[in-house]
Amino acid sequence: MQKILDGRLYRHCLGVAEAAETLACRFGADPGRAYVAGMVHDYGKRYSFQELINKAAELKLSLDRVTIRECKLLHAPVGAALVELELGITDPGIIKAVASHTTGRPGMTLLEKIIYLADYIEAGRRYEGVEKIRGAAINDLDGALLIAVNHALNSVIARGLLLHPCSVAFRNSLLVDISGR
Ligand SMILES: [Fe+2]
Ligand SMILES: [Fe+2]
Repeated sequence: MQKILDGRLYRHCLGVAEAAETLACRFGADPGRAYVAGMVHDYGKRYSFQELINKAAELKLSLDRVTIRECKLLHAPVGAALVELELGITDPGIIKAVASHTTGRPGMTLLEKIIYLADYIEAGRRYEGVEKIRGAAINDLDGALLIAVNHALNSVIARGLLLHPCSVAFRNSLLVDISGR
């Protein structure tokens, strides 16, 4: 990955891999799979938006109207197909975690949740509120995810970008799960 990705993206992926490994140990997932998933989660970002569009068409991926228009979203589902095709990763759980890491979705597996959260709190992340999410992630996976997805939704709205329905459904599912504890 160090040879394939540019320096900044590589450092981010390394940070996500390390954060995912830590979260996996903390919440009972396989740390090795979490590390690999974190390392490849942004593989799609090595390509431009147009290249991703072309690859999605070549691979006949069925993508929804929101994903196809947002570069920030498109690298996840196309990247998921490419980690299998170009990196030879066959673990369906890892591929799924790459695919869902930008929008989230209701009913995420433990590994998917770990990658979503690790992407938010890896050591290189510096934004207002990150410490609160890191603090919650010490013992409350869903609680930390809820703060992270709220942050993501607010930021999407503030920047005038398209809001993906899966992100809204993910937030609602977390709220329902947390209130039902
Ligand atoms: Fe990403
Ligand atoms: Fe990322």
